Amino acid sequence: MRHTLFVLSLLACGSPPEPPPPEPQPTAAEEKSKFSAAMQEHYAVATDARNQLIRGDLAGARVTAARMESLAVPDVPAPWQPHLERVRAATAELADAEDEEAAGQRLAALAKACSDCHAEVGGGPRTDAAAALADATPPETHMKQHLWVADRMWLGLIATNGELFTSSATFLAESELHPLGKEGAKDDELATLERQVHELAAAQGASRDRGEQAVLYGHMITNCARCHSKAGVTPVVTGAP
Ligand code: HEC
Ligand code: HEC
Repeated sequence: MRHTLFVLSLLACGSPPEPPPPEPQPTAAEEKSKFSAAMQEHYAVATDARNQLIRGDLAGARVTAARMESLAVPDVPAPWQPHLERVRAATAELADAEDEEAAGQRLAALAKACSDCHAEVGGGPRTDAAAALADATPPETHMKQHLWVADRMWLGLIATNGELFTSSATFLAESELHPLGKEGAKDDELATLERQVHELAAAQGASRDRGEQAVLYGHMITNCARCHSKAGVTPVVTGAP
């Protein structure tokens, strides 16, 4: 293209124009750190949407997902493009989720889309996942444990660290039920939601298929959201694991 313009201008005025200065090319290290920063931003915003959903704030989760659509994504090699498109599609669907059930499944589809690329190209938050696995001290109270487990599973899913995912799920499955879920609990609906969280955790601990793990995880997050809404609590859920 530049060559054609050059020839045309040569024909037009008879004297060669100044050659344009070469565009500075980013170094490989600069490209890598730009890409890492974009990944970290995606992770932080996707986790925000998840946190809002856990709290029972469906509207907030939708707004955050919509914000994700406008995040800058640096160029990636052509074979990676379909993965990015799947992430974008899952994000758009989450932004449109009509209820907590749909939002849980679309959040799960988003995490799955991230993890599929990581699995294929060998990327993802691996160091953090290894550190989380090493630091296995759960908090004391029941609900904080729910979040601790949900965080580790989220990281395990996105980082394709199956051991972090399943060991955390098994921990939750084997922990005691929250008083709201125990035999004789006053509210049947809340009790069912809590029992299902533990059953889903058991299924997640037994699953070795990332797609299935993601679907189960989405159902679990839906239950967190539903119970908090129904119980009329809006717990503080912040930060990324
Ligand atoms: C197109 C493929 C692809 C998609 C899609 C993708 N990632 Fe990544 N991700 C990578 C690669 C490759 C790396 C490793 C980058 C490196 O080491 O420089 C990475 C690294 C990361 C990191 C670690 C960044 C760092 O260096 O600290 C996080 C966190 C992350 N991804 C989160 C996500 C989340 C969340 C999503 C989905 C919203 C996602 N990624 C979607 C390819 C992808
Ligand atoms: C049976 C209904 C129920 C389910 C299911 C449920 N929660 Fe809760 N959650 C509550 C109630 C009620 C509170 C406020 C009182 C309390 O902490 O027990 C709460 C509080 C919290 C808190 C704040 C705790 C604190 O001490 O600050 C977090 C975090 C939390 N839930 C996370 C979760 C996550 C994550 C899930 C899903 C894996 C979940 N919850 C599932 C009912 C539920």
